[in-house]
Amino acid sequence: MKKFTRVTDIGDLKAAVAEALEVKANRFAYKHLGQDKTLLMLFFNSSLRTRLSTQKAAMNLGMNVMVLDVNQGAWKLETERGVVMDGDKAEHLLEAIPVMASYCDMIGVRTFAGLANKADDYNEKVLNQFIEYAGKPVFSMEAATGHPLQAFADIITIEEHKTKERPKVVLTWAPHPKALPQAVPNSFAEWTVAAGYDVVITHPHGYELDPRFTAGATIEYDQRKAFEGADFIYAKNWSAYADPNYGKILSTDRSWTVDSEKMALTDNAFFMHCLPVRRNMIVTDEVIESPGSIVIPEAANREISAQTVLKRILEGTK
Ligand code: CP
Repeated sequence: MKKFTRVTDIGDLKAAVAEALEVKANRFAYKHLGQDKTLLMLFFNSSLRTRLSTQKAAMNLGMNVMVLDVNQGAWKLETERGVVMDGDKAEHLLEAIPVMASYCDMIGVRTFAGLANKADDYNEKVLNQFIEYAGKPVFSMEAATGHPLQAFADIITIEEHKTKERPKVVLTWAPHPKALPQAVPNSFAEWTVAAGYDVVITHPHGYELDPRFTAGATIEYDQRKAFEGADFIYAKNWSAYADPNYGKILSTDRSWTVDSEKMALTDNAFFMHCLPVRRNMIVTDEVIESPGSIVIPEAANREISAQTVLKRILEGTK
């Protein structure tokens, strides 16, 4: 595997999940693969889970790891070609990428949507420059439009907890005080549909996601109706995708917060969230602390999704 940004990069998803579960059961069995290999993890924004889980995954595989927070201690990077660099950005990405790539065997990149220019975000301007100019395998640690390592961990978690062959999986929008990207819901929709689940997405009008990610899912604007009979509830906030409101907050309606009364409509559903989560905005204390909340095993599976992807990159196979 030379790049990992979409579900299509992983090939047969069932086989990938089986491999992930094998990795989970024997996580130190592949230490030889990473010997004398170096991973560079590059962060353009903050992270807790992605940083630690990917680093742990690389260590499980015997790799050396370098972590660079681009906005803390490195030269400020220009990402646009043709710009007269007379401002505060001292280095261009087009030099920085091959230089960084010369020090490592693969690069994990974490970028975030700017939410100002939809075309820039949905063309994955930063991530794609790494793929084009690094000359080394590149994997997404969340980019403007997707978070595939999170979605892969979500699928592993659902497979571990499901009691039906084809569970009903509901992705629900929930309120948040800041405008957030669509990356997590995009990937969650794309990966859960690919997994063959009965996928329902519920959100207020105006929050429709990019249909390239949601094709195959049912859209239900009535949150309560969506929750009926659900096996998994996955809560997430996102800002508007549709024009002319791209990147904007259209609602902070707290009646969309996931609470016990709504969870009672489900078929004893598990509660999931990628974390970090704002309690009593996205989900009540009661629900996230309930026995049906699987947010911690879900986060723990980030190590497993990352290790499976790194293993495949090291093996040079799909
Ligand atoms: N879920 C997730 O990606 O968490 P971090 O932002 O902390 O990495």
